Amino acid sequence: MDFASVDAFIDSPAALDPVEDRARRQRPIGVFDSGVGGLTVVHALRRLLPSENIFYLGDNARIPYGNKGAATVERYSFELTGLLLAEGAKNIVVACNTATALAVPRLHDALRVPVLGVIAPGAAAAVAATQTGRVGVIGTHATITSGAYERALRKLNPRLEIRALACPLFVPLIEEGLLDDPLTDQHIARYLQPLLDAKIDTLILGCTHYPLLQPAIARLAGPDIRLVDSAQNCALAVRDLLQRENLSAPDDQTGTLQIALTDSSDRFLPVVERALGLQVGDVQLRRVQGVALAHAV
Ligand code: DGL
Repeated sequence: MDFASVDAFIDSPAALDPVEDRARRQRPIGVFDSGVGGLTVVHALRRLLPSENIFYLGDNARIPYGNKGAATVERYSFELTGLLLAEGAKNIVVACNTATALAVPRLHDALRVPVLGVIAPGAAAAVAATQTGRVGVIGTHATITSGAYERALRKLNPRLEIRALACPLFVPLIEEGLLDDPLTDQHIARYLQPLLDAKIDTLILGCTHYPLLQPAIARLAGPDIRLVDSAQNCALAVRDLLQRENLSAPDDQTGTLQIALTDSSDRFLPVVERALGLQVGDVQLRRVQGVALAHAV
């Protein structure tokens, strides 16, 4: 598959008659993540935008992205985007914080369809929430070392005091289903301590998985710290983007959810389904090997 040719069937709105316009709006929102953690974003999207069709692609064959280098995550992100465009995606939502940090700027430059990641909406929500200007960010190693959240926050308010911290043990604990467990509480308390010492009043949960720990983090952070859930804020930003680009699904449509993964086995999926109360139904399998990267070579 070649990116340019897939992308070329995205017509310009001005050229469309009403039937074509409806068909264009009916196309799915394409969402990708390194695995099934990004279903936190899908959950938020389905609640906010029930008319939208969604095609979700989780790269569970190659998770975690959070410990990988920038070039690898960028390559994976282009491959997944190629598959979503082949499904007719009208826009791309990068649900993965790590892929947003490392690939969204280049995806944005390379594609004709709109691309939205989770970092800009989360940063905007944090800037709106903080009263003291002291903001904490937690995420994977790759997200935190990229500095992407700091850049997004400082662009909105250069005077913020930002404490960014990698919490690499959270993802495995969450994937094991230890959402409400003394072992997880111990790790949360340990990771949060430097942020509490820095007297943050707002904490960005900068990873797909962390919304599943929200009750435990809220309990240990205490009532004075506002938690910013990047999944929820991303969904709000997608709604605004679709309205702005004239791409919102027709109101009389009942949205469907299709899920594809790159590996047939996923032990974390039942954990996510239970935690979110989400029924994913049949899961399709997609191979990523051999997807052409016409734009990048
Ligand atoms: N989806 C990743 C993120 O939001 C977490 C899991 C991983 O490391 O791939 O950063």
